[in-house]
Amino acid sequence: MSQNVKLEDLIPVPTGILRINNLFLDRQINRKSIELSLIIPTYNESKNIEQLIQIIINTLDRIVVNQYELIVVDDNSPDFTWKFAAELSHKYSQVKVIRRESEKGLATATIRGWQAAKGQVLGVIDGDLQHPPHILTRLWQEIEKGADIAIASRNLEGGGVSEWSIARRFLSRGAQMLGLLVLPEVMGRISDPMSGYFMVRRDALLGKTFNPLGYKILVEVMARGNIRWIGEVGYIFQERKTGESKVTHQQYLEYLLHLIRLRLHLWQIDRFIRFGVSGFSGVFINLAVLYFLREFADLGLTRSAIIAAEIAIANNFFWNDRWTFKDISSNQKGIHNRLIRFLKFNLICLSGLILNILLLNILYNLLGINEYIANIIAIAIITFWNYWFNLKLSWRTTDTKK
Ligand code: GDD
Ligand code: MN
Repeated sequence: MSQNVKLEDLIPVPTGILRINNLFLDRQINRKSIELSLIIPTYNESKNIEQLIQIIINTLDRIVVNQYELIVVDDNSPDFTWKFAAELSHKYSQVKVIRRESEKGLATATIRGWQAAKGQVLGVIDGDLQHPPHILTRLWQEIEKGADIAIASRNLEGGGVSEWSIARRFLSRGAQMLGLLVLPEVMGRISDPMSGYFMVRRDALLGKTFNPLGYKILVEVMARGNIRWIGEVGYIFQERKTGESKVTHQQYLEYLLHLIRLRLHLWQIDRFIRFGVSGFSGVFINLAVLYFLREFADLGLTRSAIIAAEIAIANNFFWNDRWTFKDISSNQKGIHNRLIRFLKFNLICLSGLILNILLLNILYNLLGINEYIANIIAIAIITFWNYWFNLKLSWRTTDTKK
C-alpha cells in the first residue's frame, strides 16, 4: 500500500440526525441521482476489501453499469481499511470512502452512508465476503419488479448458513424468536430479520428519522420505513476466510434494547404521554369553570357541569391538535378538517364518558371496590379508550400512496 491517500480522497461524514432526505432537496452540488448506492460498512476488513470490491463491480457492471456507487463506511479501523479503500477509489471512480472517527457501529455506519448517497435505491452488504455478491443481481431484480425492499435471506429455499455451530444457530434463532415476541408486526413480515444484506427504495425511507442501536439495521428499516412490497431472495451465508467477526455479547444486549426502543416507538408512547398531559390540563379547566359557574353565574349543577365539561373538551382538543398530534394535523390543514376532528373528538369523549359511568358502576356496585380506587381504574381505562379511538379516527393518517 502506498502512502499517498489524501484528505480529498475521502468524502465528508454526514452529521446531525439520522434522516434520509429527498435528493433534490439537498442543495449540495453534484447530486444528480443514480440508480443504486451500495454501502459497505467495514471494521478491520483490509484483507477482504479489494477482492470484495472487484467482485461487486463485476456483478453490478452487468446490471446497472455507470449507474451505481459503492460507499465504504469505515470506523477508523486500526488496520487502515479506509486507506486501502481510498486507494481503490483511485482505480474505480464509483468507489467512495467515508472514514468515521467519532461515531461507531454497523447500523449507524450504514445510515451515514445512505445520507451521503445519490442512489434512488439504497443497499448494504457486509465487507467480509460472507454475503455472496452475485446475489446482488437477484436483489436488483426484485426491486425492478417493484419491491420497496429486497432482502437476502438465509431462511428461504436456496438459503442457509455454511458451517455454523449449534450454539450460533441457536443464538441466531433465539434472537429471531425474541424479535417476534416483541415486534410481531415487524418481524413476522420477513423470514430473516437478522439479515444485513438488502436493498431498499429511498422513497420508502424519505423523511424518516432513524435511531438504531448496534447491528440490526434491517429491523430498524422495517419498523420505521414505509414498506409495502417485500421481495426476498435465498442466499448462503459464507464462512469468513480472513479477519474476524465483531459480534460480542454486548451486541445481544444492544439488540434487546433496540427492540424495546422500537416497541415504544410503534406504540407511540411519547404521543400517549402528551395526550395524558393534555387531558390532565382539562381536569383543572373543568374544575375552575365549574367553580366559576356555580359561584358567580348561579347556574344549576347539571348545566354548569355540561358547560364545564365542554370547555374542558375544547381545551383538550386544542392541545391535542397543536401538540399531541401536531405531525398529523399539520398535514390536514384548514378549518373544515379541524372542525371534523373536533366533532369526532367530542363524540369519542362522550363515548368515554358513558363508558366511565358504566365502569364505575361495575367496579363499585358489582365488585365492591372502593369508589375512589374504582374511579382511578375507570379513568385509566378511559384514557386508553379515548387515546386509541382518537388516534384511529380523529387524527387518522389516511394510508394513501404519496
Ligand atoms: N463501520 C463499521 N462499524 N462496520 C462494522 C462495525 C462497526 O462498528 N462492526 C462490524 N462492521 C462490519 C464488518 O467489518 C463487516 O463488514 C460487517 O459489518 C459485518 O460484521 P461481522 O462482525 O462480520 O458480522 P457477522 O458476520 O457476525 O454478522 C452478520 O450477521 C448477519 C447474519 O445474521 C451481520 O453483520 C449481518 O450483516 C449478517 O447478515
Ligand atoms: Mn461477518
